[in-house]
Amino acid sequence: MTNPDLQTVTKVTHWTDTLFSFRVTRPASLRFRSGEFVMIGLPGDNGKPILRAYSIASPSWDDELEFYSIKVANGPLTSRLQHVQPGDPIILRPKPVGTLVHDALKPGFRLWMLATGTGFAPFASLLRDPETWEKNERVVMMHTCREAGELEYGRKLVEDLQNDPLIGELVAGKLHYYPTTTREAGPFMGRITDNLTSGKVFTDLGLPGPLDPEIDRAMVCGSLAFNKDVAAVLDGFGLHEGANSAPGDYVIEKAFVGDGV
Ligand SMILES: Cc1cc2nc3c(=O)[nH]c(=O)nc-3n(C[C@H](O)[C@H](O)[C@H](O)COP(=O)(O)OP(=O)(O)OC[C@H]3O[C@@H](n4cnc5c(N)ncnc54)[C@H](O)[C@@H]3O)c2cc1C
Ligand SMILES: NC(=O)c1ccc[n+]([C@@H]2O[C@H](COP(=O)([O-])OP(=O)(O)OC[C@H]3O[C@@H](n4cnc5c(N)ncnc54)[C@H](OP(=O)(O)O)[C@@H]3O)[C@@H](O)[C@H]2O)c1
Repeated sequence: MTNPDLQTVTKVTHWTDTLFSFRVTRPASLRFRSGEFVMIGLPGDNGKPILRAYSIASPSWDDELEFYSIKVANGPLTSRLQHVQPGDPIILRPKPVGTLVHDALKPGFRLWMLATGTGFAPFASLLRDPETWEKNERVVMMHTCREAGELEYGRKLVEDLQNDPLIGELVAGKLHYYPTTTREAGPFMGRITDNLTSGKVFTDLGLPGPLDPEIDRAMVCGSLAFNKDVAAVLDGFGLHEGANSAPGDYVIEKAFVGDGV
């Protein structure tokens, strides 16, 4: 008997001890908007699937689906998921949802993508979607992690964008990438909240600041604490939160639930 929700792993890449990405086959019927998430998982020992929310990291035009994942040592799903190999089955519930979509934002000029940790995943999708570049004159990707190695998946993806036959020309002159670390020395450091409020990101990138609700839009994805603090910063600059049902100046999605592992 076949399970209609089973897909097959096609590629696995380990980025650090705690981060990996993998690609799976895409059900022919699955349609999604870049930035959305789905439930994926593995069969549990008792036969009941262990399912978790995952942002789709690949763009909506891709033939396969990509995911970017944490490895939680005792995590019910990722303690096992981190060992998947090409050819292995993955459960995928094909019901994409989420707020990090262009439809939930009012038209703007400059789009800020604000992510910590695996919160980069939805932006890995959106950065590779032509719609992002057609709808915005400037895109600023701020990604912050504790250590430099945790930025590598995003750094490589941004580097590859420029050489991408589909996106490369659209991206030229529009993308500003601002990766920072907070617990390891690097060329750029500091929390996203601090770099926005101090104006450091504008100075470092040579962009006009501060944030302006007339031209700036933002998409936010990180821990609950990060999301809450960024929302306060964006509110302070006069931006208003939006949703699928009522587009606004910024939208927020959780990268994970919980305080720590
Ligand atoms: C909307 C949404 C989208 C998500 N997208 C992704 C994604 O694209 N990639 C991804 O790796 N996870 C994502 N997650 C988290 C994911 O659903 C699982 O929590 C994660 O895979 C760990 O599962 P687990 O069963 O091993 O451990 P869980 O029991 O689910 O988590 C154990 C603890 O680990 C910590 N933790 C869980 N996930 C993360 C994380 N991503 N980063 C840092 N700490 C974490 C939390 O403190 C949590 O309490 C998303 C969560 C939500 C709500
Ligand atoms: N990443 C690791 O190396 C590591 C190792 C062991 C355990 N863990 C556990 O895994 C969990 C998730 O780790 P994570 O590193 O993916 O996520 P995280 O703790 O949310 O940190 C990711 C980045 O976001 C920043 N940040 C956190 N809260 C913020 C806020 N309120 N406002 C602005 N910036 C904020 C952090 O800066 P700061 O550094 O200033 O906090 C860090 O640069 C942690 O709770 C931790 O217990 C992680």
